[in-house]
Amino acid sequence: MIIAKTVEEVRDAIRQVRRQGQRIGLVPTMGALHAGHYSLMGAAKADCPFVAVSIFVNPAQFGPNEDLAKYPRTLEADLAGCREHGVSLVFTPESAAMYAPDAATSIHVARLSEHLCGASRKGHFDGVCIVVAKLFNIVLPDKAYFGAKDYQQASVIGRMVRDLDMPLEIVVCPIIREADGLAMSSRNRYLSPQERQQALALIGSLHLADKLAKAGQRESKALIGAMRQHIATAAPLGQIDYIEVMDPDSLSPTDRLDGPVVIALAVKFSSARLIDNMRIDPTRLGG
Ligand code: PAF
Repeated sequence: MIIAKTVEEVRDAIRQVRRQGQRIGLVPTMGALHAGHYSLMGAAKADCPFVAVSIFVNPAQFGPNEDLAKYPRTLEADLAGCREHGVSLVFTPESAAMYAPDAATSIHVARLSEHLCGASRKGHFDGVCIVVAKLFNIVLPDKAYFGAKDYQQASVIGRMVRDLDMPLEIVVCPIIREADGLAMSSRNRYLSPQERQQALALIGSLHLADKLAKAGQRESKALIGAMRQHIATAAPLGQIDYIEVMDPDSLSPTDRLDGPVVIALAVKFSSARLIDNMRIDPTRLGG
């Protein structure tokens, strides 16, 4: 496994891989790897003989009061995990290798990036887009893999790739969950035992919405109301940031479930802000 710290090292390796005509899969990460990341690597490996993983805690996507300084950094364990999962190259740059001090370019995906997580994390998706675009330009992957837990992120990146004619395919892989249903996240480790228990209210509220939809409820307001009530009872330590029933492609809020929707939510605990989502297709519910 090649461990590259500079853009030039990655470019040298990629040039050789391209010469051999191998397809390249990229899994961008911020490290603190868990089973969710490894599932992305597995999907990449199934499609592409050469799998590159980036491990970079990207300062551009953290707000001034966010957790950049305390974001978990577990490089040795991450490298061992990548090796175990057959990764060919890990790109683990320092911030200075990624951003020139006078870097002046930004990418803003209008509308799609401005509500939901974009509303409470101003500039977050601009930071994601710039680093992901740079990683695509450095690694030149045929395919890049993202988790469906960050549904809005995957949509924003998909739109950026389409709008800028970037020559690669975005693959969105299913959410990986702990045995009790909590969506895997590097930030779960911040939770106190009590918060960890209460964090199950996220998936609990999504299951409740799914059940109500299956029973015939088509009003988004009713589903959101029931979810809010569930979270208030099951997670008194959590503060709801948003719950939205939305069109899976445009991410616009929908009042009724007349076709497939994605229900997404974010809940803040004292130590971590958690997100989750579920796709519900009423045309396949029989309700
Ligand atoms: O999902 C993440 O871990 C990050 O937002 C990403 C895509 C690696 C960009 O820094």
